[in-house]
Amino acid sequence: MNDFLYRIDEKIIKSKANLIGHTDEFKQCSKLIDIIHDSGKEYLTFFNEIDIRSINIFYGETGTGKTTLAYSIAKYALTKYGIESYSLNIENIIKTELGATVNNFESAFQEIKKLSEEDKGIILFLDEFDRLLVNRGNDNELSELKRALIALMDFFQSISVKQQITILATTNYFGSLDSAMKRRFSFHYEIKSNKESREEYYEKLKKLIPNGLNYKLSDKIIDSSNISNMKKLVREDIVKLIKG
Ligand SMILES: Nc1ncnc2c1ncn2[C@@H]1O[C@H](COP(=O)(O)OP(=O)(O)OP(=O)(O)O)[C@@H](O)[C@H]1O
Ligand SMILES: [Mg+2]
Repeated sequence: MNDFLYRIDEKIIKSKANLIGHTDEFKQCSKLIDIIHDSGKEYLTFFNEIDIRSINIFYGETGTGKTTLAYSIAKYALTKYGIESYSLNIENIIKTELGATVNNFESAFQEIKKLSEEDKGIILFLDEFDRLLVNRGNDNELSELKRALIALMDFFQSISVKQQITILATTNYFGSLDSAMKRRFSFHYEIKSNKESREEYYEKLKKLIPNGLNYKLSDKIIDSSNISNMKKLVREDIVKLIKG
């Protein structure tokens, strides 16, 4: 494997995959994983014909569980089909020399195809997808970034369900993505927090509080905008409690 990709460790996938709620999205995504890894050739030929790819994006506000959902799908693919997940090593890909970034992206894409062929499938994680092509402040940035964006769109276009490559992208800025880019995603999922999941998380957290800690969990935290903010409130309380 070249330096432009890294494998996400199984332990990391499992530890980050404690999803609460988002059951519909999880079911829909796992259905696609099943189609890709466990269905007959006729499915794949048909999907290929109508340009459906396993290219998914989860979008929505921060802290709603997009990354957690992506890890849960990675865990599903790993435990059911032994599919490994990889991520791009952006530090190594984005370079200041003209042309290097685009070439590096292309090497990464070649490597993804190769790995998928060898392992009968692969997941590529593009977490915080919008940050992938941010301005790194070099002189040639505009044309270079544009070319990198085109290379990425070409890569998306070039894969097919038959190659068993799944892309799981997340973003907080779906609205500001280029419409040509948006079209490259076959499946769009808006991820929103809901009260039922927050209640479920409240119950889970309540059970985790050690008896000796002398802390009563307030049910007001359920009114937070998402699970991430519930955690933040409790964290602040516990820090105060420890500091005395
Ligand atoms: N639905 C959820 N299930 C389980 N944990 C959640 C959920 N939503 C949020 N969390 C918790 O809140 C924190 C943030 O969640 P996560 O990273 O998945 O959110 P995100 O939508 O990817 O946020 P961002 O847009 O900032 O990347 C994590 O600690 C995670 O455990
Ligand atoms: Mg995230």
